[in-house]
Parts: sequence; structure tokens; C-alpha cells
Amino acid sequence: MKKIALILAIVMVIGMLTGCGGGATKSDKLVVATSPDFPPFESLENGEVVGIEIDLLNIICEKMGKELVIEQMNFDSVLPGIQAGKFDLGASGISVTPEREKNVLFTDPYCLAAQAIVVTADSTITCKADLEGKTVSVQTGTTAESFCMDNGYTVSSFEANSDAQTALTTGKVDAWVIDDLTAADMVAVYNESNPGALVILDEAMTTEPYAFAFSMKSEALVNEINAILVELVKDGTVAEIFANNNAPYTQPQLG
Ligand code: ARG
Repeated sequence: MKKIALILAIVMVIGMLTGCGGGATKSDKLVVATSPDFPPFESLENGEVVGIEIDLLNIICEKMGKELVIEQMNFDSVLPGIQAGKFDLGASGISVTPEREKNVLFTDPYCLAAQAIVVTADSTITCKADLEGKTVSVQTGTTAESFCMDNGYTVSSFEANSDAQTALTTGKVDAWVIDDLTAADMVAVYNESNPGALVILDEAMTTEPYAFAFSMKSEALVNEINAILVELVKDGTVAEIFANNNAPYTQPQLG
């Protein structure tokens, strides 16, 4: 027993001397939780996660002298993981909502997005009002899911965005609700091999700001990253990253 206590004491002293175990914020790594099924923000390219938020986080890490570590998961695991303190931050095209603000801390928003309605070319749905009484597919845990449920549509939820898309293309639902830039990206890819098959309606569902999410306990880290992020919005770096990823950029108002 004494031996164990001695070993423990030595381990603790070494830990103190080397600065180990000081919590995520003191580490030389920044661990990000993401669901890479969301182009142009994060998607897989030859097994590597790429996209706007990865570009942005690489710049932030460079400025902080940290190494970016990417943990992949389904979208509905990102926020619970952040809340439980398993990762330093969540980057997944996460929309800021009052509901989420009760459970995680957000940076300032770095872009504005919207929820788009996608239908098949032969659909009679041409605007939001036409969705009444219809079935829609969405990704599990997203704002599209909560919005559509709150609005009384019949909702089919899927862990993967691609499955929500397939539900529409195979006629299982009447419409697919998904964030506008990802809709544009995924519809363009689908229509490449099926010309004109999918249509994004002009009328969007909602407008939503995107930000990075942190545990409620990470106030110092949020402040540090937020200061860098706001600067990158102001000096046009974020707009440039969107342009490099062939995506239109809508800058949110800076508080
Ligand atoms: N913006 C939406 C939300 O916050 C959808 C995000 C989905 N992200 C993803 N990587 N699949 O709920």
C-alpha cells in the first residue's frame, strides 16, 4: 500500500514539474469535435477532413502555437461531447441558438447561414407554405430537425446528411431541409450525374449564425480563440477562406 502511495506521489510531482494534467487549455493541442459530412465546412477528401472550418482552425492554431487534432463523429455527438468536456471545441457548422447557449459557450458568430428547402424537380412544393402536412428529411440533432418538428411537419431524421438526401431522391419524403451552403454543394454533386434532378427553393426556412462551441468551463479558452476569430473576420481572412472554398460569404454583424 505504501509503495503505491509513494509511486502516486512521484507521479504527481513529475506531473507538476512538467506541467502535465493541467487541463485541456494548457495543452499544446487543440482537440476539435466535428462531423465531416458538411461540405464546404468539413468533409472527407481522401480520408482527410478538409473545409472552411478546418482552414479557419488551422490559422487559429498557428496563432496559438497549438497543433490541431480532429475527432470525427456524427453531428448529434458533437455538442454532448463538448458539454461533457471530452473535446476542446466543436466545429461543425454549428448554429447558435438560445437553447444551445444554455449548455455550451459559443464564440461570436463568424458567418451567417440559412436553412434551405430541397425538393425533386417534379415536386409541387415551391415555397415554405407548401410544406404544410408534408414529410421532410433532416439530419439528427440539427436546427433543421428542431425547426421542422416545431413547425409540425412530419420529420424523418437521419444520422448522416447523405441518408437524408437519399430519402428525398428515393421518394421517401417530400422535401429535405438542410443548411444552404451544404445544400448547394451536395445538390451540385448529385445533379452532376442526375442533371436537374434536385432543386433548392428560393425561399429559405431560417437564418442562422455559425460559431464554435465550448464547454461551459472553458471560458478562458473561448475568450482567447474569440479574440483571434473576431480579428480574422474583421481583416477579411474569413471571407478569403470562403472564397478559397468556392463558397459565398455572409458576414455577421460584429458585436
Ligand atoms: N447548422 C445546423 C445546426 O447547427 C446543422 C449543422 C450540421 N453539421 C454537420 N457537420 N453535419 O444544427
